[in-house]
Amino acid sequence: MAYIIATANMKGGVGKTTLTVNLAAALAKHHGKRVLVVDLDSQISATLSLVSPHKFDKLRKEKRTLKYLVNQVIQPFGESKTYIKDAIEPYIGNVKGLDLLSGDIDIYDEFMVSEILHQKALRFVKDDFQQVWNQLEFGLIREILQPAMTDYDFIILDCAPGYSLLTRSALVCSDFYLLPAKPEPLSIIGIQLLERRINRLRETYKFDNPLQIELIGIAFTLSGNLLSGRYYKQVMRRVHDDFGKAKIFTTRIPEDVNVSKAVDRFQPVVFAHPKSSGAQAFVKLSQEFLHKLQTIMDMRQQKSKLNLVNLD
Ligand SMILES: Nc1ncnc2c1ncn2[C@@H]1O[C@H](COP(=O)(O)OP(=O)(O)OP(=O)(O)O)[C@@H](O)[C@H]1O
Ligand SMILES: [Mg+2]
Repeated sequence: MAYIIATANMKGGVGKTTLTVNLAAALAKHHGKRVLVVDLDSQISATLSLVSPHKFDKLRKEKRTLKYLVNQVIQPFGESKTYIKDAIEPYIGNVKGLDLLSGDIDIYDEFMVSEILHQKALRFVKDDFQQVWNQLEFGLIREILQPAMTDYDFIILDCAPGYSLLTRSALVCSDFYLLPAKPEPLSIIGIQLLERRINRLRETYKFDNPLQIELIGIAFTLSGNLLSGRYYKQVMRRVHDDFGKAKIFTTRIPEDVNVSKAVDRFQPVVFAHPKSSGAQAFVKLSQEFLHKLQTIMDMRQQKSKLNLVNLD
């Protein structure tokens, strides 16, 4: 079964998409993992970092984008069916194991979703809108991914900034979340806001469906002028104090013009300029990512063994 990883930060422009596509590319190319990138953002940045606009156009025409899968969950009685396995575009950058579920520029109509949920609440649950809302939030992304779960080692969800229905639905079905940040105050506030939201989600589902989600780590993308001296150190110390050393990637992603240039070629920098400092940092980060995951899984195993011993 795949691990589901959400890349999220409430703040925009902190490197979520760049981290998603490059981590996915490095895991597939350098570690032989089977990875699916899912673009949950209507800016379609992850999609256009992996395939050309021409290819995206084709995927849309063939109805092979997230939009059709989302609409199917919201309105399950439509005539035509889209299957996730048919929608997935395989062999991204000709690399075996790297696949994409394309995003779309208009994924769902918020007005229509509220209307459908209100109708459903009226008919089935004594006008309890919260209940139907939670059902949708809990099941939406989970249901979409379910048929593909055994085909991958990792499914990485590129979340939009902010806290939309898709982001919440991604978080509630994820095993881990990955937090890219810049060492600057607003980006740090973005981390804190996300933490608060995730805790609230945990509260909401704690009785019926306790959430699995755990932070795998915070990855810092460094902006050149922020790196200098005391200020940067202060910010980093604050994050260390809040989250602990184990939750921070020691690999920092440097500001590297090749990262943006690669987007022009609709490729992750790991493929487009493998020798660049940016690409090498992402490859290093992918090793650290696997190591962190292994450590967490080992700790969980230890814990469950201890629980068994206590039961005995
Ligand atoms: N290490 C880097 N070096 C240089 N440019 C970078 C680096 N990381 C990201 N960028 C550029 O910074 C911009 C923002 O990055 P990205 O799109 O990954 O952020 P995001 O958090 O996904 O944004 P949004 O919140 O809009 O989804 C992009 O133009 C990207 O090419
Ligand atoms: Mg993005």
